[in-house]
Amino acid sequence: MTGFYRQGAALVCDGVPLEPLAAAHGTPLYVYSAAMIAARYRAIDDAFAGYPHSIHYALKANSTLAIARLLKSLGSHADANSGGEIDVALRAGFAPSQIVFTGVGKTIAELGHAIDLGVRSINVESAGEIERIETLSRERKVRTKIAIRVNPDVDAKTHPHISTGLKTNKFGIAIDEVRALCAQTRGRPDVEIVGLHVHLGSQITNMEPLTRAARSLVDLARHLALDGTSIEHLDIGGGLGVSYDGSPVPEAADYANAVLPVLRESGLAIVLEPGRQIIAPAGLLLMRVVDVKEQPGSDRLFVVMDAGMTELIRPMLYSAFHRIEPVIRTDAPATSVDIVGPLCESSDTLGKERTVPRPRVGELYAVLDTGAYGSVMASNYNRRMLPAEVMVENGAARLIRRRQTLDDVLTLEI
Ligand code: LLP
Repeated sequence: MTGFYRQGAALVCDGVPLEPLAAAHGTPLYVYSAAMIAARYRAIDDAFAGYPHSIHYALKANSTLAIARLLKSLGSHADANSGGEIDVALRAGFAPSQIVFTGVGKTIAELGHAIDLGVRSINVESAGEIERIETLSRERKVRTKIAIRVNPDVDAKTHPHISTGLKTNKFGIAIDEVRALCAQTRGRPDVEIVGLHVHLGSQITNMEPLTRAARSLVDLARHLALDGTSIEHLDIGGGLGVSYDGSPVPEAADYANAVLPVLRESGLAIVLEPGRQIIAPAGLLLMRVVDVKEQPGSDRLFVVMDAGMTELIRPMLYSAFHRIEPVIRTDAPATSVDIVGPLCESSDTLGKERTVPRPRVGELYAVLDTGAYGSVMASNYNRRMLPAEVMVENGAARLIRRRQTLDDVLTLEI
């Protein structure tokens, strides 16, 4: 077994107890299991084995350097969504040819940077963006590889904030317009269309929309080939969900079964951009109880933690559910509580109506499955410092990011 599990009453990470880690590094603290990251990466790689594919880990899910380097060492390539993520990918050791550059609002500076580097492909979002890439490439006397991000108008059936494949979303080029656009672009000296790209959304647990999107891409590639545009790859994005409540959800193998039979028809190599599937269950957030309070006239018992929306915004932003557990299970009576953060907003709630052994001030708690879109979405609101991060690898824990200090923050201010 890899990752987080109990040894007696204590939650551990690959056999390393969490309470001493929190004592050594303070809280809030993110903890990651390198073994679990590796196992989950390999599960995807194995599921697609036997068909030409490359996994471009979506750095947006978690791009702490040590994690990016670990993925690189496992054979992953990278999906970057900004100039910052491109540069982090380079510092983590990814070659430009291993990076796909996505994003709906790439600036001229970011495009120029990606073109200078010669990334594997820039996933383009509009006709205007193609023109900008052409101009920049012409100035540099290079031919830039692009993939067309297709908006297939397929409902991913996930939270509206993280749905991206509907025509009412800002993402991609409407599928009906792609053939005409490719006809115009084909043969141009400054850009080369090497792929088609689709990303329907995130935390998708229903495979049917993913199959439909794959079908759309394969059909479109066939039409393009008939028109004379022959491409090299189909990029099917990320989006495969994980279980946040412990109930069964489709795994990497189910995902491959849902899309590979369709993609195979194309004969084209595939690019995958998973983020959450690899990293979400491989991380958790440790926090301590700072207060336990009742409000007179209400039946609520509030457990106030030293972590909140600044360390983990998912519950507030998407009403996301994360399991929250005491690190050392006690035999205190089971009690229904609202688990809240220290910030000056009532929406700063990590879990409502959770049943836990009645908490006491100072106890350590863990928010599970927070490896993805946890630390990367943290903020300094209320002048709170970004949390430290620890990775457990080969039976030992090491600090991979120290806690931010006020001096780190104020150094930017004039
Ligand atoms: N590729 C593209 C083009 C994307 O936009 C995304 C995620 C991915 C790949 C990776 O998707 P994944 O495999 O992780 O689902 N902050 C939200 C999730 C936003 C996802 C944005 N795009 C959350 O906390 O749920």
